[in-house]
Amino acid sequence: MQGVIASSEVTREALDVSLPKGERRRPLEQRGGLPPWAYDNAELTALEKELVFRRNWLLVGHVGQIPKVGDYMTLDVADERALVVRGEDGAVRAFHNLCRHRGSRVVAEPKGNCGRVITCPFHGWCYELSGRLRGVPRPKTFPKLDRDQYGLKPLDCEIWHGFVFVRFKGSGPSMAEILAPVEADFAARPMADLRTYDEAWSYEFELDWKAALDVDNEGYHVPVAHPSLQDLYGHSYRDNILSDKLNLSIGDFGDKPASLWSVRHYMKALPEMSELPADQRRSWRYYGIFPNLVITLFPDMVDFYQFFPIDSRRSVMRGGYLALPDSRREIRLSRYLLQRINRMTGDEDIQLIKWAWEGYRSSAFEDIMLSDDEQVVRAYHDRLRDVLPVLNLREAPAPGTIAETNRRLSGAAV
Ligand code: FES
Ligand SMILES: [Fe+2]
Repeated sequence: MQGVIASSEVTREALDVSLPKGERRRPLEQRGGLPPWAYDNAELTALEKELVFRRNWLLVGHVGQIPKVGDYMTLDVADERALVVRGEDGAVRAFHNLCRHRGSRVVAEPKGNCGRVITCPFHGWCYELSGRLRGVPRPKTFPKLDRDQYGLKPLDCEIWHGFVFVRFKGSGPSMAEILAPVEADFAARPMADLRTYDEAWSYEFELDWKAALDVDNEGYHVPVAHPSLQDLYGHSYRDNILSDKLNLSIGDFGDKPASLWSVRHYMKALPEMSELPADQRRSWRYYGIFPNLVITLFPDMVDFYQFFPIDSRRSVMRGGYLALPDSRREIRLSRYLLQRINRMTGDEDIQLIKWAWEGYRSSAFEDIMLSDDEQVVRAYHDRLRDVLPVLNLREAPAPGTIAETNRRLSGAAV
């Protein structure tokens, strides 16, 4: 039994810690999932925030959402706050959204334009767009403040094809390295020219974030649960694991005429898109990036969405649409219909996510049974088990001991 322990007893042997972290995988014949307690446990959520969300690259948005000097966007996640702003020199920079005076947010809104100065809404400390402290009200009431030392704290930031990623802690491969296997797909499009197509959206679930990821991570449910996607793809939809942190799901358009109104008219309205590589012209391609992000390349636009925990019973799904400026009537129609199809699919997924989460709480629930077509769910669970070996325990450790148990299991692996 490689990498699996079936009871709450924590031993070196049970975890098979001789294996390197990345190889602690469940054998394929084991088709179970994470233990049900993992979907409703505040201590575990705190660990996930620390070990999964603070220590991996997280998307804030795309540079096309902040085209002008002073434009900014923010991300609140894992009790951290990120601010991304375009400077006077045109550069995009990331900071903690954290005033150096008393810790307030320095911008109050999720997005907007702050002009040439970021002014904290609490007492009015001002920062340049480069992050440097510009001035404070009643400066004589303070000792002399070094403007660089008391500037906004910069965040680890990487921009990949216009997508702005931040990392709150830790180190590891760059996004360019993680996304190298799909670099060519994105390089085939003028990604830096994308602009906001629609307002960014968010949806709050009253359930653990992993329940949402579990549904999103497989396409086995598409033929039954998503009539529009099935109509669009036929049987072409497939999930591919490209690496530990990267999956690619592809739905090529079917040959048969679609029967649903939105899908039929979408396929008809969509222009030839001959500027794209052949395999992107009649295809929806979903790039799943650990720990919580999907970027979709549609022929006529791009979208992204992410899942975050708020606490063990609340999570957020957040996303946005991006597109190249194009006023052709047929492309406006195809984009409208694409969003309509996605809205229907999203509503269907929300229901599935709720039902699955309810199931984990049922007294009759034992475990899930994954098919070969749900391999991404297992791979994602494996990745979580790498950093949270406590997830191998079928029974929850005693209250107050989860972090310590996880540390012990992780430590034993080194
Ligand atoms: S907390 Fe920002 S000015 Fe006081
Ligand atoms: Fe779905």
